[in-house]
Amino acid sequence: MKISLFGATGPTGQYIIREALSQGYSLSVYTRDANKLSLFEGKIEVVEGDLKNLEAIRTCVSGSHAVISALGPNSLQINEKRSVMHGVGNIISIMDELAVCRLIQVSTSSYRDPKDGFDLKSRAVVLLIKVMLYKAYDDIKATGELISRSGLDWTLVRIPYLKDGPADGSIDVGWYGKTKLSTKLSRGNLARFLVDQISNRDFVRAAPGIADHA
Ligand SMILES: NC(=O)c1ccc[n+]([C@@H]2O[C@H](COP(=O)([O-])OP(=O)(O)OC[C@H]3O[C@@H](n4cnc5c(N)ncnc54)[C@H](OP(=O)(O)O)[C@@H]3O)[C@@H](O)[C@H]2O)c1
Repeated sequence: MKISLFGATGPTGQYIIREALSQGYSLSVYTRDANKLSLFEGKIEVVEGDLKNLEAIRTCVSGSHAVISALGPNSLQINEKRSVMHGVGNIISIMDELAVCRLIQVSTSSYRDPKDGFDLKSRAVVLLIKVMLYKAYDDIKATGELISRSGLDWTLVRIPYLKDGPADGSIDVGWYGKTKLSTKLSRGNLARFLVDQISNRDFVRAAPGIADHA
């Protein structure tokens, strides 16, 4: 079964690729720079393009069962407003065209879910990011809102600070203000949760927060 993967050139991307391959999926991975994926040469299909290139996005998504996206603002100097949101908008339009329904997107508590309760800790973190990294905050929030309004079978996986580490399965999943969620998550646990959502329907059209069990 083929999965399309976007935003996999960062440190988390390597974990997602390894997890998906180990679960038996074949992968079509989209990137602006194929050199960043040379480690996986021969193991994955690589499609090169930016997020405005509809033809390349179509090539990547065509024949896929689901799309996983770890796209997120990764620079302190963001020139283009809401570039991730616009890119994800293009991915959604191609998914609609090709009738690929399942989208799993990495997000953060900058996107608030109606099921969230009041949680001082996560609100304080969001306020800090809003003040210090407004463009990143705004892009993550707008991307979440765009996806949640789509007709897809979406899941927004909201994460805290990431650290390198394997998947040990020891995570908490729930809603801010209602579930005790720590402030850290290993990239291995994130990768496993993302890939598991391909077959797990529990969080379809939902935005769970996940974190390592403290
Ligand atoms: N690190 C953390 O503690 C943390 C905390 C909360 C959320 N997150 C989110 O978790 C995800 C993985 O994080 P990470 O630190 O492992 O990796 P990362 O380096 O933040 O990865 C971001 C990915 O998004 C891509 N990307 C960003 N802007 C893009 C654009 N305008 N057009 C096309 N591609 C774009 C990057 O591609 P290029 O390589 O081409 O730039 C990269 O593949 C990201 O969504 C990040 O925002 C991370």
